[in-house]
Amino acid sequence: MRKNIVAGNWKMNMTLQDGQALVSEIVNMVQDETISSQVEVVVAPPFPLLPIIGRLLPEGGRLHLGAQNCHQKESGAFTGEVSAKLLASVGTEYVILGHSERRQYFGEDDELLSQKLKAALGAGLKPIFCVGESLDTRESGDTFKYIEGQLKDGLFHLSNEEFEQVVVAYEPIWAIGTGKTATSQQAQEVHAFIREQIARAYDAEAAQNTTILYGGSANAQNARELFSQPDVDGGLIGGASLKSRDFVEIIKSF
Ligand code: G3P
Repeated sequence: MRKNIVAGNWKMNMTLQDGQALVSEIVNMVQDETISSQVEVVVAPPFPLLPIIGRLLPEGGRLHLGAQNCHQKESGAFTGEVSAKLLASVGTEYVILGHSERRQYFGEDDELLSQKLKAALGAGLKPIFCVGESLDTRESGDTFKYIEGQLKDGLFHLSNEEFEQVVVAYEPIWAIGTGKTATSQQAQEVHAFIREQIARAYDAEAAQNTTILYGGSANAQNARELFSQPDVDGGLIGGASLKSRDFVEIIKSF
């Protein structure tokens, strides 16, 4: 079901103490009555913090727990890895998959991601599936073709029922961590294209019901304009999610 979501991807940041302090501040600040009750918030800390941060999130509130990755197998001899089943057992609801940093640094390709999606869905997690092009791809005019390939090869193998659980995140690689945010027009163009591809792969209802988030240097100053675009349903936030005031300002931007 389509929602307004602001998800904070903490990446490899925070200690236990800092993470607990950050979430406690966010929990207090989102009690603000001026924040729309429709906005759902996800915090995605590094794996070791998941159960501890999860216990700090008020039961039945707007804050939900997310992970930044999962393995494609349910269990086994995969040293250092974390299964979707284990994530679910500690209260995780969402899992970010296909982040460009995972694709770039850990060689995750669309085939592997299609397996991870199945594992996440099998464990009852809601995937936040990331797509996005490099600067070279954009400058060569191949953005839409590239994104179409990521969707078809990584995501569109899911059944209609499975796909209903998926959130899509458009994260242009050239905007991640660079301060070079996509313009609201650039974001809207790609979000509308993604929605159109979903309609073709599934149907118009699936397309209209899919939440599509923007990620890539979104912050307290630009979130309102980005989120005002018809096909932008919220944000996947990196750096700005590590400061409670900035993150809550983004949550207030709808
Ligand atoms: O997953 C969100 C992240 O890639 C965006 O990072 O720091 O540009 O907001 P940042």
